[in-house]
Amino acid sequence: MSAAISAVPFGHSTAAQAFQIVPLDGAVGAEVIGLDLARPVSDDDFRRIHRAHLDHHVLVFRDQRITPEQHIAFSRRFGTLQIHVLEQFLLEHHPEILIVSNIVENGRNLGLGDAGKFWHSDLSYKELPSLGSMLHAQELPSEGGDTLFADMHRAWDAVPSELRRIIKGRDAAHSYTARYAETKFEGNWRPTLSAEQLAQVKEVIHPVVRIHPENGRQALFVSEGFTTRIVGLPEDESRDVLQQLYALSVLDDNVYRHRWQPHDLVFWDNRSLIHLAAGCPPHLRRKLYRTTIQGDAPF
Ligand code: SIN
Repeated sequence: MSAAISAVPFGHSTAAQAFQIVPLDGAVGAEVIGLDLARPVSDDDFRRIHRAHLDHHVLVFRDQRITPEQHIAFSRRFGTLQIHVLEQFLLEHHPEILIVSNIVENGRNLGLGDAGKFWHSDLSYKELPSLGSMLHAQELPSEGGDTLFADMHRAWDAVPSELRRIIKGRDAAHSYTARYAETKFEGNWRPTLSAEQLAQVKEVIHPVVRIHPENGRQALFVSEGFTTRIVGLPEDESRDVLQQLYALSVLDDNVYRHRWQPHDLVFWDNRSLIHLAAGCPPHLRRKLYRTTIQGDAPF
């Protein structure tokens, strides 16, 4: 299966919708109020959304009664869609959608149950990591199940000069498989990867600090989920530096906690943020659909 599906060209000549973009209280995020994603999104509206995504990094669209086709079509406005390596958890007939779910039906896991268990930026383990992801709520638990987002521009701003000196110009290794065995053992959610799947997720190297290609700001680009080491540092020092960077990234005032409501669609920028699934009691059902938009090679 190909790893990416092409973007749809622009040229949507549809009527504009009346909607507002209202910043959330915390460090990042805005709510888009009044835009119906089940209706065509005009080019002007698309430009507003695109701008807001760059400015606020995470956008919340409440009560979106959209089909998988509409979810995919809106995602494609932003770029090429990436197909997740775990083909077992792709939505039937819609491989652009990864099912994130803890539900087991007929002895079979419906989706990736422990997606986002560690802070991460989606697909940072690929040569072309994700630009952004859209997660659409299908079934929510009555308790828990929040998603947390941390601003990696602000995290970079908070790095003290001594630490900056150590990481300046350095790269870090990212690996999908580094913590795979751990999560597989704990929850038994994860299928054993085939040789073909392993070939899709070979270790990659990215800068520790990247420049966002669209807003021009620097951002830390390491996470406990996929970063394994800083290239060129002794193992102990690399581990210690990464722990310090992780701790700085997720300070409380740098984090937005999204409390899901039915039919929410949340669209975040993986170049600006890392995120974490806070988890819910295992007996409560949770199911969301995720599309993942391909980004540029980090620099
Ligand atoms: C993810 O990491 O994409 C999933 C986040 C979530 O399930 O809250």
